[in-house]
Amino acid sequence: MKSLQGACIGLVLFTLSFSNSFNSCVQGKCLNDQKALLLQLNQSLISNFTLVDFHKADQDDDTHPDLPLTFSSKRDSWRLNTDCCSWDGIGCDIAGRVISLDLSGEYLVGGLNSSSSLFSLQHLEKLNLADNHFAVTSSPIPSGLDQLANLIYLNMSRSGFIGQIPIDISRLTSLVILDLSGDVIIKDPDLEALTRNLTRLRELLLNSVTIFEQGNKWCRSLSSSLPKLQVLILEWCDLSGPLDSSLLRLQSLRVLRLTANNISSEIPDFLADFPNLVTFVCESCELYGSFPERLLKVKTLRNLNLRSNERLQGSLPEFPKDGRLQELVLAVTGFGGEIPTSI
Ligand SMILES: *[C@@H]1O[C@H](CO)[C@@H](O)[C@H](O)[C@H]1NC(C)=O
Ligand SMILES: *[C@@H]1O[C@H](CO)[C@@H](O)[C@H](O)[C@H]1NC(C)=O
Ligand SMILES: *[C@@H]1O[C@H](CO)[C@@H](O)[C@H](O)[C@H]1NC(C)=O
Ligand SMILES: *[C@@H]1O[C@H](CO)[C@@H](O)[C@H](O)[C@H]1NC(C)=O
Ligand SMILES: *[C@@H]1O[C@H](CO)[C@@H](O)[C@H](O)[C@H]1NC(C)=O
Repeated sequence: MKSLQGACIGLVLFTLSFSNSFNSCVQGKCLNDQKALLLQLNQSLISNFTLVDFHKADQDDDTHPDLPLTFSSKRDSWRLNTDCCSWDGIGCDIAGRVISLDLSGEYLVGGLNSSSSLFSLQHLEKLNLADNHFAVTSSPIPSGLDQLANLIYLNMSRSGFIGQIPIDISRLTSLVILDLSGDVIIKDPDLEALTRNLTRLRELLLNSVTIFEQGNKWCRSLSSSLPKLQVLILEWCDLSGPLDSSLLRLQSLRVLRLTANNISSEIPDFLADFPNLVTFVCESCELYGSFPERLLKVKTLRNLNLRSNERLQGSLPEFPKDGRLQELVLAVTGFGGEIPTSI
């Protein structure tokens, strides 16, 4: 314990000059106005624990004795007489301003609209609303998010919000990581309008988001807006192909996952030209033609998964000695020929 504290103090000294630190060691004491906003927010949030009760009911007949009996909400630790910076799901900066709020997995069903006190927490840099149940109350993504201009990280993955992603998101120009995976849609405003000004974005995750775009325009929309993108995850998005060479503008791209989109084309040779490509996954993408052998020899590549593209042809070359390939999935494809010894 002693040494842990020592490490903590060391960290404090080291990180003092970085206001963006989420480290729990550098938290100040909660400011009154911040606490008041959180209490107001707590009052307005509605959790629906029916799912939890269901598990509990299961328990009663002793069929799953090992499941936890009760669900504990992070917000149970939000106590009037304690420092709000010590509450579960809350992170503060050294001045005692709330910069991080994690309300993921809280079974939330409603209570968020543009007048929510959530949007008065102006210093928030990190907001996580993932894994909630807002769909139960058919709640759209609330407008007002653009009031949180300092957000660096926004996660609304499987939050249950429905409907169009609002234009407000496009004004969060400090965002570095954005995860909006879930049953929402991108139509009007379109992908280009939503991302045009998010120039600092390094990770974009839109799994299961229905994206309405003509043909492969999505490639140009993203590549013209997001020069720093490293991680692009667009699975189950209703996207079409072929992959457009404009994607090559994303020179920092490391991870590209496109599973379950009807790309319906050949795999372009230019994929081998990304200097940092580590992961390319495109299961069930209706890919066909002959696989560009050059891609298999890319030295940075670690994961290549092309499962369930029956019309995709190819054979395995000798792999480079200094390659990093760890995962190669070619099940249910038309790959054939010999397994090279270098494998
Ligand atoms: C905040 O909400 C949680 C969950 O409903 C509750 O247990 C807690 O007592 C509330 N805190 C305050 C200070 O009202
Ligand atoms: C926002 O929700 C609160 C209750 O959570 C409600 O009192 C208020 O009228 C709502 N405001 C709008 C603009 O819908
Ligand atoms: C968003 O939250 C979900 C659920 O907690 C998590 O699985 C996912 O990795 C998060 N996304 C990012 C980009 O951190
Ligand atoms: C992007 O920023 C430019 C310049 O600040 C602004 O004119 C434009 O309206 C913004 N676009 C969107 C979609 O917010
Ligand atoms: C995929 O797209 C192609 C070309 O647009 C179309 O012919 C084909 O039916 C589509 N396949 C599926 C499974 O939707």
